[in-house]
This record gives sequence, C-alpha cells and structure tokens, in this order.
Amino acid sequence: MHTLAWKAMVMAAALLQLCSSRELESNLSLQDKITKLPGQPQVSFQQFSGYITVDDRKQRALFYYFAEAELDPYTKPLVLWLNGGPGCSSVGVGAFSENGPFRPSGQVLVRNEFSWNKEANMLYLETPAGVGFSYATDSSYYDGVDDKMTARDNLVFLLRWFTKFPQYKDRDLYITGESYAGHYVPQLAELMVLFNKKKNVFNLKGIALGNPVLEFSTDFNSRAEFFWSHGLISDSTYRIFTYACNYSRYVSEYYRGSLSPVCARVMGQVTRETSRFVDKYDVTLDVCISSVLSQSKVLSPQQVPEHIDVCVEDETVNYLNRKDVQDAMHARLTGVPKWSVCSSVLEYELLNLEIPTISVVGSLVRSGIPVLVYSGDQDSVIPLTGSRTLVQRLAKELKLKTTVPYRVWFEDKQVGGWTQVYGDILTFATIRGASHEAPFSQPERSLVLFRAFLQGRPLPETF
Ligand SMILES: *[C@@H]1O[C@H](CO)[C@@H](O)[C@H](O)[C@H]1NC(C)=O
Ligand SMILES: *[C@@H]1O[C@H](CO)[C@@H](O)[C@H](O)[C@H]1NC(C)=O
Repeated sequence: MHTLAWKAMVMAAALLQLCSSRELESNLSLQDKITKLPGQPQVSFQQFSGYITVDDRKQRALFYYFAEAELDPYTKPLVLWLNGGPGCSSVGVGAFSENGPFRPSGQVLVRNEFSWNKEANMLYLETPAGVGFSYATDSSYYDGVDDKMTARDNLVFLLRWFTKFPQYKDRDLYITGESYAGHYVPQLAELMVLFNKKKNVFNLKGIALGNPVLEFSTDFNSRAEFFWSHGLISDSTYRIFTYACNYSRYVSEYYRGSLSPVCARVMGQVTRETSRFVDKYDVTLDVCISSVLSQSKVLSPQQVPEHIDVCVEDETVNYLNRKDVQDAMHARLTGVPKWSVCSSVLEYELLNLEIPTISVVGSLVRSGIPVLVYSGDQDSVIPLTGSRTLVQRLAKELKLKTTVPYRVWFEDKQVGGWTQVYGDILTFATIRGASHEAPFSQPERSLVLFRAFLQGRPLPETF
C-alpha cells in the first residue's frame, strides 16, 4: 500500500514533468507553419516555410517550402527537391509549377491532382543563397559561388532543418531534382555518405535525377542530333554543328569569353533555324508567347492550348511577389527588389558545368544507393540520348547486368515512356511527351514514375 502510493506519486510527478517539459520545449517548426496561403483551397495536409541559417555568423539563410504528405505523413518518406539553373528556384519552378500541391492561376491557387505530396513529404529548397528568398547579407558572397559551397550549405541546411523537424530525422530520405541538380543532388548525397561515416544521420534511400547535367560533353553534344532528328535544323547545319563547332565547344568558349568566329557563325545559323519561337525545353510545346514577346499574345490568343498553361511561370512570378503571399510564407526580400525565378544577383561559377558528376553517381551506386535517371523526351537542352548513353556507360563500368531490359512502361493504358534497369539499382527511364520540366508537362506520368522510384520497383509493365 505504502509502496503503491509512493509509486503513484513518482509516476504522477514524472508525468507532470513530461508535460511541462513538452510545453517548455518550444516546437520550433510551429513558427514556420503556414496557416493558409492566399487563394488556397481547403486542404488537410500541413505546410511550412521559412529560413534556416547555414553559416555561423548568421549571414546566410536558405528558404524552404515544405508540404507534408496528403495522407499519413508520419509513415511516408521525406523527399528533397532541387531545381537547377544554376540559380533557379525550387519553390517557384518545382513547387509551384511542377510537382507541388498547388499552381497559381490568377488570384488563386488550384490543386495539382498529381502532386508528389500524394506519395511523400515534399521539401523544396531555394539554393544557394541568392536564389529566390534565400540570401546572404554580405552580397560579396554571391561572386563565384560554386558546386562545393552549394553542396556544403545544402548539407548544413538539412542538418539544421532536422532540429526544427525532429520527427523527420529518421525517416527514409530521398533527394530528387532536375537539370543542373544533376550536380547538386549527387554532390549533396556524396557529402551525406561521408558524414554518415562519422555520425549516422542521413537515412538516404535513393536519388532521382531528371534531365540532369551529368557529363558536359556527352550531354551538350547530344543536342545537335536531337535538333536534327526533330527537324529543327537542316542537314547542312547538323553537319557543321557536329564537325565545325559542337555545342560543348561553343559553351566552353562562351563562358571563357573567347568565342571563336567559327563557333559564333555555327551558333548563329543554329539559332536562326531553330527559331526563338520554339521552346528548347520542350520542342513540341507551344512557347509561352508573353515571356518572349508580350505583344504577340494579343496577336495569337489561340496559341495556348487549354489543357496546359504554358505561362504558368508568369503566374508564379506574380504570385510569389504578392506581399500577402510573402507574409503567409514568412518570406522576405533581402538585397533584391523582387522575387525572380532565376537569381539576378548570383554569379555562379559557370565553368563548374564541366565537372563530371556521373562518376559521383557511380560511387553512390557502389555504396548501395539506388539511382534513377529520367528524361522528359521532348527536351533538347539535356536530351534523353545523352543521359541514356551515360547511364549505359556507367552500368558497364560498374559491371551491372541488365535486370530489366529496355521496354515500355505504362501509365493508365498508354505508354508512359521506356525504361531499363541495371543490377536492380541503376534505372534509366524516359517520360513520353515530357519537357525538361517533366512533372510540369506530364504530371500524371511523372507521378507514376515517382511512385515506382519510392517503392523501389520497376515501372509498370502492364496496365
Ligand atoms: C510540432 O508542430 C507541428 C505542426 O503543428 C506538428 O506537426 C508536430 O507534430 C509537432 N511536433 C512535436 C514534437 O510536438
Ligand atoms: C567537340 O569539339 C571539341 C573541340 O573541337 C572536340 O575536342 C570534341 O571531341 C568534340 N566532341 C564531340 C562529341 O564531337
């Protein structure tokens, strides 16, 4: 009796202490919680956004937007999404134009039925500092930001983000992204693997790369054939774009400020034939006329197909520049007059383009991390043919046997693209009819691909 009472008292005290420490321990994520985005329809999932300081002098902070999974966020994985550029915004492009839960339309937000937060908790990061709402208070930081600095900041971001969201620390983690994120993602994953050797923090389960820059010359020189085979350039232009000056040489000269007359002439001809009224990121999609030449919208109002809003980027720019939206997202403009899709202040070290990251991908595969490389097949900027060659070459180098031979995959009853898997760990897939920004132009097919990736399963073979 005596001991029982004593036990009860101890228990009550322990409980009390537990409760009060719970209350005292401030829930850090709460201050970043979004009550409601202006114009947003009612949803059941939680959203957060705000800043994480990434340097010790508190001069650099990265902005994120986090949309929890629509259902069962506690059991679903955590997925980081990064856009490329370098210097373009994952919030503006990724979240609000591609695979996030909403897309801006006039004054309101409409639901994206194929949002990736159907499958995962989606974290969008504006990186490096100088992109979107992310900033450095000392603007000299922006001169010559490179891949190494970006990867380091991204790593620190995640470590500190986990102190705000401790419930996600042990969750399965995937890193995804597109374009120049073919540098960001493998480089960040590599740092995580290294970090884990000292202290096992990151539960990294896989990476996915969409139309990624992985190896400068293979990726860039596949453009000529893509243009030619899609009828964007003539036979004779294809010849000089291959033999007189190829694209990797042009870019390499251009960024070194030493453009040769022959390359200038070749590119002049290529540009004339391909025309600026064709979107290089999707050679079949109508261009968003307003962003090229705003008067033309009045002249050809029927040019925009109804099912896809090709001007969604303009809508995003308007939306994210609204004061009420910035307030709701806990965002502020630091050192820039407005939010823009791609940074106007960042002077990224562009020669980093030439650093091959396919070898980094190889070392990740070697350490057991599944990799998916996928290509929107209408993109001429990083064409599928270059990516496919690189993946195939890597598989050979790693002596990975084909475990799923090149075949079609299905979304609903249609072919969603083609896929091949090597050693059950390295996957290549195309998304049929998709642009450089695949989830923007083929949201349904992209979601099927994303689901298969998270489940670690080959893409659907039948319907
Ligand atoms: C902190 O608050 C968020 C938002 O309401 C909630 O989802 C999360 O579970 C809370 N975490 C803890 C540890 O209470
Ligand atoms: C591209 O041009 C450079 C310089 O002329 C050359 O070294 C390289 O082999 C070319 N690449 C391809 C794929 O033709």
